[in-house]
Amino acid sequence: MIKKIAVLTSGGDAPGMNATIRSITRSAIARGITVMGIRDGFLGLINDDIFELHRSDVSGIIIRGGTMLGSARVPGFTERAVQDLALTNLEKHNIDALIVIGGDGSYRGARALTSLGINCVTIPGTIDNDIPGTEQTIGFDTALNTAIEAIDKLRDTSSSHHRCSVVEVMGNRCGDLALYAGIATGAELVITPETGYDFEWTIDRLKELDLIRHKSHAIVVISEKLTDAEDLAKSISQKTSFAGRSTVLGYIQRGGSPTANDRLLATRLGDHAVATLLEGKTNHSVGIIDGKLISMTIDEAFASKREVKQAMFDLQKRLV
Ligand code: F6P
Repeated sequence: MIKKIAVLTSGGDAPGMNATIRSITRSAIARGITVMGIRDGFLGLINDDIFELHRSDVSGIIIRGGTMLGSARVPGFTERAVQDLALTNLEKHNIDALIVIGGDGSYRGARALTSLGINCVTIPGTIDNDIPGTEQTIGFDTALNTAIEAIDKLRDTSSSHHRCSVVEVMGNRCGDLALYAGIATGAELVITPETGYDFEWTIDRLKELDLIRHKSHAIVVISEKLTDAEDLAKSISQKTSFAGRSTVLGYIQRGGSPTANDRLLATRLGDHAVATLLEGKTNHSVGIIDGKLISMTIDEAFASKREVKQAMFDLQKRLV
């Protein structure tokens, strides 16, 4: 029987993590369960930085970006000796189960702990929307809205100066942020890990947009880690009639008050994670598919293919 659970946030922070912590805390307390918070992800678990969370500790945080628990990336958590330290601390505090909020690295950490006998449930929290086993991750919608706001502003100034704005967005190896932001802002080009990056094609396409379509500006939304945005902007200035300018949105996408969508998703998934643990499920990840809250084992989640959003890529191209 589960009497005490712990929660941690891990990996890159995401808006809505606080709303998730609030939901878990209050949902568990309402069910008679004690809740412990762990600071700085798996690092706090190793260092025994663990404290009790009361209802009032999570008041007011639903509107706040970041994570009140702190987060960290702990590459060493793959080592058995490090995992044993975590195990010792969980036992020391009589913690029966652990909820991990984070991305795929965090899921792997939870899976490792489960194999050592700890009940774990994971919640997808990352702006990248790259977690299998859910259609949407907590933080994605807020980051998307942040990117859209920035791109709208860049469009104004690009249009006034016949410029091409190359806007680099985050996403790790997933193009969802670029694709959705590109569609929502009417960007001329969207380049993502899924489309691949072809320099010559990009330049040819921009020439076509200028000469044939007489575009006053061009917005190129490009996912991070594909090329250097500034170099691309310089080449655009040299090879097309647009003046190229680059903007790397960077960490601004990770902050800010979560959108209504993220607050609701976080609140629902936090509660669902507690319910999933109470159903006796462990090594499970929770998510949302077709609007319904679901859970599956972490291995099933990793084995499930994320849908390639070809229809969305085609739509973006049709509307330019
Ligand atoms: O996973 C979220 C994310 O912001 C990615 O989009 C990005 O590639 C990465 O984290 C940056 O990591 P860090 O915060 O460690 O610099």
